[in-house]
Amino acid sequence: MGDTLGDIDLVNPDNYVERVPFEWFDHLREDHPVVWHPEPSPNQGFWAVTRYEDLTNVHMDWRTYSSELGAVALEELDDEQLEVRKSMLETDPPRHTELRKICSKRFSARGVGQYEDWIRDVARSVLDDALPTGEFDFVSEISRDLPIRFLCSIFTVPQEDAPQLIAWGDSMIANQDPDLSAAVVDKVDTEAYRLLPFRSPTALKVFEYADRQRDQRLADPADDVLQALTIAQSEGVLNEREFHNYFGVLMIAGNETTRHTISHGMLALMQHPEQLELLREQPALIPNATEEILRWATPVLHFRRTAARDAELHGQSIAAGDKVVTWYISANRDPEMFPDPYTFDVTRTPNDHVTFGPGGPHFCLGAHLARLETKILFQELIPRLDTIELTGPVERIRSNFVNGIKRMPVRVSTK
Ligand code: HEM
Repeated sequence: MGDTLGDIDLVNPDNYVERVPFEWFDHLREDHPVVWHPEPSPNQGFWAVTRYEDLTNVHMDWRTYSSELGAVALEELDDEQLEVRKSMLETDPPRHTELRKICSKRFSARGVGQYEDWIRDVARSVLDDALPTGEFDFVSEISRDLPIRFLCSIFTVPQEDAPQLIAWGDSMIANQDPDLSAAVVDKVDTEAYRLLPFRSPTALKVFEYADRQRDQRLADPADDVLQALTIAQSEGVLNEREFHNYFGVLMIAGNETTRHTISHGMLALMQHPEQLELLREQPALIPNATEEILRWATPVLHFRRTAARDAELHGQSIAAGDKVVTWYISANRDPEMFPDPYTFDVTRTPNDHVTFGPGGPHFCLGAHLARLETKILFQELIPRLDTIELTGPVERIRSNFVNGIKRMPVRVSTK
């Protein structure tokens, strides 16, 4: 990988299977905060941005660091792919603003706040089912259920569809893990799926599902997010492909990320029992702890932008067309921003993490929702726990994009 990087390879998904390679990020942040990182063909390589301040500058300056020319993941798309796979994530203002407006109110603090009691009920019923069994997989029995059941609720699709939607979401976003996807992007030929989001054939099933839901709403209108998308399509604000991609993004973005936050949060509390004890004694700290859990978890490792014009970042000349990859996982451990960044401290304040992005037009649409779900889950769980311990290895998703836990066997005793 060249002299500067030594053996650092941020691309190979195998390098994230055991753990996040934090020492590589520490080294880059310290010595090479903006550095050219080569990639295996057909990709061209990218600028790796690892400091908090630089990451923030990139995300705020959307005119220079465009999403329209290629965003989200490392995959390099030709014009045709960019056009058909485009969602709000891959647009710049003013089009981005139009797209986001379609359902931004429903995801505002007020919009999701209306669901607080409902989320609490779901959290209780998920815990009622899981905890009495004593030994179970925390991911499949607890973390996975809450986010998808909530999404089913705001989409008003049947709760029975949740397992199917989970499986589809997993196979799309975890497209580097053979355990979760049959079309693993760096292992099998996925050329036939080049026009689909995440290069995943599963996207077609998600699209058909979205069509059925839209047709139902045309016949029998509902007051939900899908209705907003259906209206936007009938009014010509979204074409059919954009309607599909919009639905896909909401389904995927809102599902896995929150699940991993909850799993990482529980793992951190098991590994730092004094912090769990503190929350037991002072439950009023749980909202603050939620922010530390989000920083600690950083479920999305990076996002990407493409330079729309020549620029300079931290003394490096960036050329128009260059790929610029911002590593949230590194920025959230930047000692300039977070004293003792490797200390898990539920009392940490301030805690301006970039888990949802640093701000700017693409700041996570679901941030209020994810915060609320995480907070409520731990508010309901912690008072019930007497003891909790791991009973086997924690298995991670093979991915350079999501910091995900797929299995976490635990034994619990309750009060
Ligand atoms: C802990 C859970 C979550 C994490 C870590 C997360 C993370 C992110 C990140 C890093 C971005 C990009 C920010 C940027 O480019 O600056 C993003 C965007 C987005 N997120 Fe989330 N997210 C989470 C939950 C959700 C939920 C629950 C939803 C809603 C269903 C959601 C919907 C979206 C959407 C639609 C975007 C694109 C926004 C845009 O391009 O304007 N996310 N998220």
